[in-house]
Amino acid sequence: MRAMIIYASWFGHNRVVAERIAAQLEARGITTVCAPVNEIAPAELLGCDLLVLGSYTHGHHASRQLHELLAATPPVRLQRAAVGVFGVRNPDGEADGIDELTLRLEQLGAMPVVQPLRINLPAPDYLPHVWFDADVERRTLAFADELIMAAPLAR
Ligand SMILES: Cc1cc2nc3c(=O)[nH]c(=O)nc-3n(C[C@H](O)[C@H](O)[C@H](O)COP(=O)(O)O)c2cc1C
Repeated sequence: MRAMIIYASWFGHNRVVAERIAAQLEARGITTVCAPVNEIAPAELLGCDLLVLGSYTHGHHASRQLHELLAATPPVRLQRAAVGVFGVRNPDGEADGIDELTLRLEQLGAMPVVQPLRINLPAPDYLPHVWFDADVERRTLAFADELIMAAPLAR
């Protein structure tokens, strides 16, 4: 199985989560590419079995570059992968980038195979690691393991 974790992160929170998921997948024997969205071309999604997208939320929206990547990728390439979504944000009770990415994937016929991983910052917090406590660690690893369990069923 080949996994890709593609993330958008301005201040590093989503990068930290992406790297932790990647480490867990690798520890389970899954070849994993983990990269920021600006380093990934649509062609690289070819042959991807497990695709994990992570984004910040800015003004209730996910990363524009992630949307552009999805738009430039043939839907069939997304549909043959098991897909998951995560995001670290500072919620205000309104829709967020995770909702937006999930809806877009559903519209493309690539329904996420597990519930999204949502990590809330208690306040605007631009210091990576301070917020990454034992509970976030536990939830992040559980998310990675759920994806592994769901992936073969999705194909
Ligand atoms: C300009 C700006 C707008 C934001 N808007 C939202 C928002 O609408 N909803 C939300 O949940 N968080 C919002 N946030 C909080 C970010 O989603 C949060 O800081 C997130 O962790 C950033 O991820 P990163 O560290 O990976 O860049 C906003 C942050 C910034 C800087």
